[in-house]
Amino acid sequence: MSAAMDVDRRPDPSLQAPAYVRDLAPYTPGKPIGELAREFGLAERDIVKLASNENPRGPSAAVRRAIAAATEELCRYPDGNGFALKAALSAKYGVAPDAIVLGNGSNDVLELVTQAFLRPGDRAVYSRHAFAVYPLAVQARGATGVEVPARDYGHDLAAMRAAITPATRVVFVANPNNPTGTWIAPDTLRSFIASIPDDVVIVLDEAYNEYLEPEQNAPSAAWTGAHANLIVSRTFSKAYGLAALRVGYGIMNANVAAMLNRVRQPFNVNALAQAAALAALADTAYVDESRALNRAGMRELEAGARALGLSFVPSHGNFILIRVGDNAAAVYAHLLKQGVIVRPVANYGLPEFLRITVGLPAENRRFLDALASALAR
Ligand SMILES: Cc1ncc(COP(=O)(O)O)c(C=O)c1O
Repeated sequence: MSAAMDVDRRPDPSLQAPAYVRDLAPYTPGKPIGELAREFGLAERDIVKLASNENPRGPSAAVRRAIAAATEELCRYPDGNGFALKAALSAKYGVAPDAIVLGNGSNDVLELVTQAFLRPGDRAVYSRHAFAVYPLAVQARGATGVEVPARDYGHDLAAMRAAITPATRVVFVANPNNPTGTWIAPDTLRSFIASIPDDVVIVLDEAYNEYLEPEQNAPSAAWTGAHANLIVSRTFSKAYGLAALRVGYGIMNANVAAMLNRVRQPFNVNALAQAAALAALADTAYVDESRALNRAGMRELEAGARALGLSFVPSHGNFILIRVGDNAAAVYAHLLKQGVIVRPVANYGLPEFLRITVGLPAENRRFLDALASALAR
């Protein structure tokens, strides 16, 4: 018997993974530019990617300089406690450094919460059409995700509160939400937080916070002082333009932070990311400019959708859901052929929509022209 046949008869070790892991449907990211270039023989520079809610400007010049300077020390492990970045965040938010947990992207913070707080049999509550990582991270722990029907594409907070049972350990709220762009006003949010039992962890995911107008901003970091069960998560991937470096953070009660730090990898945030994030925090003018550019681009996309007779969900993020109809998959495919990558959202229960990230003015126009051509077919 050949060695190959022998191997074929051995039990498949992948079957030893728990059923809840085997049944996971992995996260589908936006199509990378390089992949589309290879598939259609396009030049990368001719491709417009509006699929992953990135800041089309990238990081500021000051941040690029900080990254370059940090490359001098690549032989060293990063600071596993992120001293300088936590000190800057602590000063910005008026919370103690030990109330901050750094993550490899804010996605890492979400995962750390599920690792620290969920075991098989526990329940976690989130909204329909909310960020896809919540159900995945919950299922990966063998816990049960409870998806609460949405209201006007956003979170139905009363229904989410009603879905909490003694088995519920975590509740996720995205504000603004991705992919719908819906937003909950601070007073409403605070009442919801106050209504949640003290032993249920509330994850308030504010990945798109910097795109809100300043008067819409909830003082959520300060709320963690009064609500020991509140975890606020933020990221440098969006308005700060650092998605590639993977750095985010959570603000929470120090005892809760200590639990996340127990399950955190010792060096989860690399040195370039820490240096970049520190410089990015100091460059507030850049974020203000990015917000203004986003606001103008959003108006452009809304006007373009209206001109094509399409409806959309008003958004508070740097992306917009446009209803293109029941042929959304074909429209997506036709956009790809024209070198424009957007995000299909059928996996979010939104099969008639496409999600478009606000790009630079020329990118927005390129998308709208390509959309007009796709719809005309
Ligand atoms: C609502 C929301 N939360 C969290 C994240 C995770 O982002 P990152 O891990 O890059 O911080 C995203 C990314 O798209 C998001 O949309």
